[in-house]
Amino acid sequence: MTEILSNGATAQASEGHGEGAAHALWPSLLAPAQHGDDTLCAVSATGVRVRFADGRELLDGSSGLWNTHLGYGNAAIADAAARALRDASYLSVFRYENVYARRAAAALLDVCGARHYGRVLFSTSGGAANDLAMKVARHYHALRGEERRKVVVGLRGSYHGLTYGSFGLTGEDLGQRLYGVDQRLVRHVTANDPEDIAELMRRQGSQVAAVVVEPVLGSGAVPLTREYVEALLRLREEHGFLLVADEVATGFGRTGSFFASREWAGQPDLLIASKGLTNGTCAAAVVVAARSVAAAFDAGGAILTHGETQAGTPVTCASILATLSEMRRLDAVASGSRLAARLDAVLAELVAGHPLVAETTGLGCFRSLRFLGADGAPLRQAEVPDLVAAIRRAGAIVHPGVNGVQLLPALTYTEAELAELVECVVTGLTAHARSGARG
Ligand SMILES: Cc1ncc(COP(=O)(O)O)c(C=O)c1O
Repeated sequence: MTEILSNGATAQASEGHGEGAAHALWPSLLAPAQHGDDTLCAVSATGVRVRFADGRELLDGSSGLWNTHLGYGNAAIADAAARALRDASYLSVFRYENVYARRAAAALLDVCGARHYGRVLFSTSGGAANDLAMKVARHYHALRGEERRKVVVGLRGSYHGLTYGSFGLTGEDLGQRLYGVDQRLVRHVTANDPEDIAELMRRQGSQVAAVVVEPVLGSGAVPLTREYVEALLRLREEHGFLLVADEVATGFGRTGSFFASREWAGQPDLLIASKGLTNGTCAAAVVVAARSVAAAFDAGGAILTHGETQAGTPVTCASILATLSEMRRLDAVASGSRLAARLDAVLAELVAGHPLVAETTGLGCFRSLRFLGADGAPLRQAEVPDLVAAIRRAGAIVHPGVNGVQLLPALTYTEAELAELVECVVTGLTAHARSGARG
């Protein structure tokens, strides 16, 4: 420790991007060869732009990690968070309540729909909230004398997080076997294929506690079809499982409504939200439970065994309240819908006019662009990181998608910012194609 404190690198480290700082950090999902790269080390962010340690400022086409719906540096949210930190520092919802959490829960019920939803549980990440939802579902059935209902059904290709529970539910192969993730009580079915899940229900319906779906599958930005959602609602009636909408990514206006499941013909029993909840400022997630689910716990006098030290704290809940209020002030859902209409037009133009753009999928401000490689076949997945880097060199941050990239701009993007984002994507795509042709 003393050695670290006394070497020159640490003096630089305190400035944020020196040699010592770079090598202390083990970043998520970056190969060791990329650790310590200043072009990937962010320093600050304002509006829809992020400044990096190499001095460049990039346009953010990903709303952070799909969570800064209102852009960076919102003063009202920062002020509310600062006040809560000064006035109440830390208070929990573990064997106690706190007034910030009460107020945030009530405000969330208002936006979710208090006729259907009755209770809000706080968590600290999308993955942890998926764990929590699965626990609520199993406990709910046990309270109703159906302890055998333990199976949770997810969709192939889905993403629910990387904690042990949510990693098990995640339907994309991301190394579950390597990490010994237990998937014995999880089943995966094909999205938008009603017959596949109907078949599973015929065999195992009486053991299913919950079906958990993303209204838009994040990987590839694939929306569930209306027919599929209707089939899920019918199967719920028939087989008695809880339907869980994982709206971690689709919530808070991302797809055109406050929540994507609002457009469903029936409401889910549990709704999970996280991204957008505090505009990215706090480690926050919620599970919002239907009145019918909460009633089973009330009737049984049951205590749910879940608690997280940092869940529902004053700073998180003040940030939630300020985010909701800023969303109203900025009319963010309507602004996102206008931007989505613009995205429809601009992306359709790209598909029609650019020889390397194959397809666009998604809903609202949650889009993917799929590209073709030099051979005319879908762009190889192995090439996507290079393409993302080429787009970054052209000036914009985007995340990888299926055969292409994901575009999730802030709901408050201007037309000029959207045009700039598309230009960066096209410039990056052209540069990537040229480098392939040279190589
Ligand atoms: C639909 C969905 N669920 C869960 C998660 C996991 O959230 P977290 O990274 O906060 O654990 C994500 C993250 O992208 C997500 O998109």
